[in-house]
Amino acid sequence: MSIYNNLNKKLLPKHIAIIMDGNGRWAKELGKNRYYGHVQGIKSIKKTVDAIIKLKIPYLTLFAFSKENWNRPKKEVNLLMNLFMSTIIENQDHFYNKKIKITTIGELNDLPKQCQKALIEMMNKTKNNAVLNLTLALSYSSRTEITQAVQKMLNEEKPKNSAEISEALLSSYLQTKGIPDPELLIRTSGERRVSNFLLWQIAFSELYFSEKKWPDFNEEELYMAIFEFQKRERRFGKTTDQLKNEIN
Ligand code: IPE
Ligand code: IPE
Ligand code: MG
Repeated sequence: MSIYNNLNKKLLPKHIAIIMDGNGRWAKELGKNRYYGHVQGIKSIKKTVDAIIKLKIPYLTLFAFSKENWNRPKKEVNLLMNLFMSTIIENQDHFYNKKIKITTIGELNDLPKQCQKALIEMMNKTKNNAVLNLTLALSYSSRTEITQAVQKMLNEEKPKNSAEISEALLSSYLQTKGIPDPELLIRTSGERRVSNFLLWQIAFSELYFSEKKWPDFNEEELYMAIFEFQKRERRFGKTTDQLKNEIN
């Protein structure tokens, strides 16, 4: 029986963020090259997106390529860029028909021109969709995002007094402006780190580490992560008794 049936549909997160990790190790275990793992990883993205839509969860953010990933061998980087581009182009209609709105965070300008073009086309085509807001983190670094947000904020606001700078104001300069913070962050492949992903936004997120490598991630693993999430008590600094009183 699917864990789907055990989920409390009234207590679902509105935003799930995923660090899709383990493609290379997954392929290596099978005696294949890393690229094979990345190709299989695309299938996991499709399964995950379908499951998220089925659950009516409105926001999904996927960490697809970090700023640090540019330091990988040129051959792997090039293959990944081509894979992103072909996946975007081949799935444009699919995403459009499923009413998915695609946006990106990260340094889009770092990507090859062709890849940027495909992404911009996809974003334009899907901009009025509203079933799922799918954010792709590409050439993304959270520290860069925060640093640039501070620079832009100081340039535009020109505060006379530093006390004018609030958390809300700084948040509004992040690339994730308008997207609620994720309640749940999933990382696959058994690694227990956040690798410079959404550092500001995950301040109160529940972290779930899946032992499955990304190409083995599927609907059931997603449901399991949400099932575990629903068992957690999110206290936000308060006590259990306080939370009980708030409900009553
Ligand atoms: C995640 O899998 C995909 C990207 C970072 C692009 P990896 O490529 O990091 O796979 P492992 O972690 O080396 O197994
Ligand atoms: C994080 O995975 C980035 C993505 C999933 C895109 P990495 O494999 O690059 O992270 P580290 O090197 O294990 O920290
Ligand atoms: Mg990795």
